[in-house]
Amino acid sequence: MKEEGGLKGSSQFSRRGFLKIFSVSLASISGLLLGIPALDAIISPALKSRLTSFSKAGKIGNIPEGSPVRLTVASSAKDAYLNDTEMHNVWAIKKSNSDIEVFSPICPHLGCSYNWDPQKSQFECPCHGSVFAENGKVISGPAPRSLDTLPTKIEGDELYVEWEKFQLGINKKVKI
Ligand code: FES
Repeated sequence: MKEEGGLKGSSQFSRRGFLKIFSVSLASISGLLLGIPALDAIISPALKSRLTSFSKAGKIGNIPEGSPVRLTVASSAKDAYLNDTEMHNVWAIKKSNSDIEVFSPICPHLGCSYNWDPQKSQFECPCHGSVFAENGKVISGPAPRSLDTLPTKIEGDELYVEWEKFQLGINKKVKI
């Protein structure tokens, strides 16, 4: 009888002990799970916007060689819990299958969209008249610097471009 009582006591103890450990573990796991969104919100959106990545811009074989063409690339930014994806038309100039330069479509003067004039073989900005050569250099107008190039990489037959933005109206290319 004594032994039985002892066993019963020990079994109650271990059951209680188990329940205690179980509830503490459950509370810890819940705390961790609840903490993840809080941590997520603490990380600055500015830091996250720097975590952008390359997006597919097109098959190299489909990009004509010689003169600038428009390609579409995506950029994604995460602000708190919202994922935001935007599409951008960039200008690409393919000199060869391994040499493709991509320009941001934003005029470095004050941010208008510029166009390629195939007759004059130059980029022209309609806002204040800046003119750029095919290699992006300023020919005339108020633009303080060349067109901004974007990072590119080639994997297989695919061109990838990373969307970036730069400060406007200054003579240096400074990433925002
Ligand atoms: S914004 Fe392009 S010339 Fe001013």
